Amino acid sequence: MDKIVVQGGRRRLQGEVSVSGSKNAALPLLISSLLTAEPCVYQNIPHLADIRTTLRLLNGLGVTVDREAWDAGSAELTLRADRVSHFEASYDLVKTMRASFLVLGPLVARFGEARVSAPGGCAIGMRPVNLHLKGLAEMGAAIEQVHGYVEVRAKRLRGAKILLDVPSVGATENLIMAATLAQGTTVIENAAREPEIEDLAAALNNMGAKVDGAGRDVVHIEGVDVLHGVTHRVIPDRIEAGSFVIAGALTGGEVRVIGARPEHLEAFLIKLKEAGVTLETSANSVSVRGNGKIKSVDVTTLPYPGFPTDLQAQMMVLMSVADGVSVITETIFENRFMHALELDRMGTDIRLEGNRAVVRGVRELSGAPVMATDLRASVSLILAGLVANGTTEVARVYHLDRGYEQVEKKLSQLGAEIQRVKA
Ligand code: EPZ
Repeated sequence: MDKIVVQGGRRRLQGEVSVSGSKNAALPLLISSLLTAEPCVYQNIPHLADIRTTLRLLNGLGVTVDREAWDAGSAELTLRADRVSHFEASYDLVKTMRASFLVLGPLVARFGEARVSAPGGCAIGMRPVNLHLKGLAEMGAAIEQVHGYVEVRAKRLRGAKILLDVPSVGATENLIMAATLAQGTTVIENAAREPEIEDLAAALNNMGAKVDGAGRDVVHIEGVDVLHGVTHRVIPDRIEAGSFVIAGALTGGEVRVIGARPEHLEAFLIKLKEAGVTLETSANSVSVRGNGKIKSVDVTTLPYPGFPTDLQAQMMVLMSVADGVSVITETIFENRFMHALELDRMGTDIRLEGNRAVVRGVRELSGAPVMATDLRASVSLILAGLVANGTTEVARVYHLDRGYEQVEKKLSQLGAEIQRVKA
């Protein structure tokens, strides 16, 4: 298994870095190609392990995946679901990437059936899918759970009024996709409002769907009989962007993150300003000029537009060397502090109390061998390595490769001394 080795020390990062396309927008978008028999062209698709898993999953269902150019380095993919003959997402694929569960809505909506392995939990929590299933049942689907698989059938889904107990991103995406081909109108209340959902809805509407209100907490979808192909450019990855902003703030450097949409990072940027970070924004970039002094601030993760849980680990690193005490409260997932245990090995002063982490800033961190536990934790350990004295070795970087495109290359372009060591 590869390792990432970082030489730390107060090496100020300088320069510009470009953000790749959003992983969490690309996954549902690629899957939404199941809703039409016509070709769908997706642009700005990042080269990530989760994207490759999704292409394998779709190919296994019979979707024609034209990926030659993408494999050669372009960011464009063409998918065509005109010969889908298989309606099952296997255990090993869903276990590799739980977002595979998003094939459920499109398969049932277009083909009337699907058999998808229940995702089960993951490192950061239980991550149930009850809201996905409850919504589909309300749309008239018959649902059975057999041998760890969810089997769903429906002659034709019918529009329904669905209230989500929790503004679940995945449930909102699955149910919007299902509703596009249902008979009648569906209303999803307490819908998740993430930009990735707006991006999905924009593509669906360009395919002939009638989705209104995506990005707000009530979404109306008027079902249609058929959808046509689309060419769609995926939005930039706001979480990757936020991770690089933190890297700039942490090292006291001057970094311009190109492709970052400030409006997708509002709560996060407000918090950084509160912490004394100097920021400048334009329509598609965020520039950060670290000035050494970081103040401790309290952070609570919330559904969008609140502070994103996917930037919680990165923020914890910044707070671990800030001036004062910060309380970080994780309200989305029940076990998303595992990075704290690894950061502790680097000399941080973090006390965990249930879903709260009390982070007392320390003057400096020391490099150490550490282990990535989940996608966002892995990048937080690299960030800590940038400012720690000595060498940090991050193991299990397969977590990192799921969601960050060539992060070591991008960081070394900013002046970091970082390399990937093949194990
Ligand atoms: C998406 O996961 C993202 N993944 C996650 O990013 C992100 O952390 C999460 O949204 C929250 O923003 C993708 O978009 C591929 P949820 P998802 O359903 O859809 C509960 C990353 O690092 N819930 O919004 O799985 C659930 O337990 C990943 O890129 C139910 O109770 O998240 C959790 O507490 C990590 N029942 C909360 O909702 C359900 O049926 C939020 O989960 C579904 C969810």
